[in-house]
Amino acid sequence: MAKKSKIRTPIVCVMGHVDHGKTSLLDKIRGSSVVSTEAGAITQHIGATLVPLDAITHMSGALSKVSVNVPGLLFIDTPGHHAFTTLRARGGALADMAIVVVDINEGFRPQTIEALQILRNYKTPFVIAANKIDRIHGWRVQKDQPFNKTFAQQNERVQGILETKVYELVGKLSDLGFNSERFDRVSDFARNICIVPTSALTGEGIPDILMVLVGLAQRYMTESLKVSADGPGAGTVLEVKEERGLGMTLDLILYDGTLAVGDEIVVAGNEEIIETKVRSLLKPRPMKEILIEERFERVRSVTAAAGIKVAAPKLDGVIAGSPLRVVRGPNRDEVVEQVRHEVQDI
Ligand code: GTP
Ligand code: MG
Repeated sequence: MAKKSKIRTPIVCVMGHVDHGKTSLLDKIRGSSVVSTEAGAITQHIGATLVPLDAITHMSGALSKVSVNVPGLLFIDTPGHHAFTTLRARGGALADMAIVVVDINEGFRPQTIEALQILRNYKTPFVIAANKIDRIHGWRVQKDQPFNKTFAQQNERVQGILETKVYELVGKLSDLGFNSERFDRVSDFARNICIVPTSALTGEGIPDILMVLVGLAQRYMTESLKVSADGPGAGTVLEVKEERGLGMTLDLILYDGTLAVGDEIVVAGNEEIIETKVRSLLKPRPMKEILIEERFERVRSVTAAAGIKVAAPKLDGVIAGSPLRVVRGPNRDEVVEQVRHEVQDI
């Protein structure tokens, strides 16, 4: 057990072109409907949802044979609309891994390519969700089934179309310098990018994509995830909101270390660097999107990675996208300098 708690929850960023199904995919995983709450069903913010390991093993069912010690996955939703490049870059910078969602019927579009460039820059491992397979003409839906089960139920023509579409994606990825293959033919995750055919609407292929993500985290990231579990907290501010009874609060993604009530923190304001002290920490329920969650649990401390609401004095004027750092011990000036430096990039 002790070993388990030392590994930090990997952050999985969901990226891709507008309307290709990022939020729907997360809705399917968390069993909610965030899409229906969005203005014009367009995502305009970065969101965060913790999916605990037991939910993942439950959904991936018999597929989850690997022994797993990541505590869960923290999913980050990003907007696909071209206007939100900054938010996508911010999401990409936070990610340990990513899902690039591509509408299999439309193929690569400009923001698909943009997402891949961001991931390449940060050397972030990713998987492709070849989404909306249920839209292939003649598709016979096998609700929530793993890919191989549903694929076996399709007639030859439909299987042929899917294969062709997957190879078109393989070709596009190859043009960009990535080796890829349908996930069930990949034996070495380090060499090949997995393409998982999915439907965010019917749940087909969702067990497989979860299994591939956990496999990636397990095999290639456990070392880097281990080191950063302790130590002073570091995070990125998603939103700054006034909450009844709490005053000004920050929705934060904590990507490193620990954040506790009473901690001194440094964060960037409109005009100056703000130094303050954490008054309370409010945790959204698992499987809930932090940006629309209404019931929070008060906690004394939180360990990365997590989405957390932070209440503290003097938060007026904090800018979304700002770094947040915990000051611990004599490193105050260094931390302030760090925040000042990072702020120049947002
Ligand atoms: P942005 O956040 O605006 O970039 O879009 P998004 O990528 O989050 O797409 P979203 O999940 O909002 O889905 C866009 C539309 O496609 C919605 O009407 C969804 O219901 C639909 N959709 C998403 N995934 C699927 C799928 O697998 N099959 C079908 N048939 N429709 C889907
Ligand atoms: Mg969306």
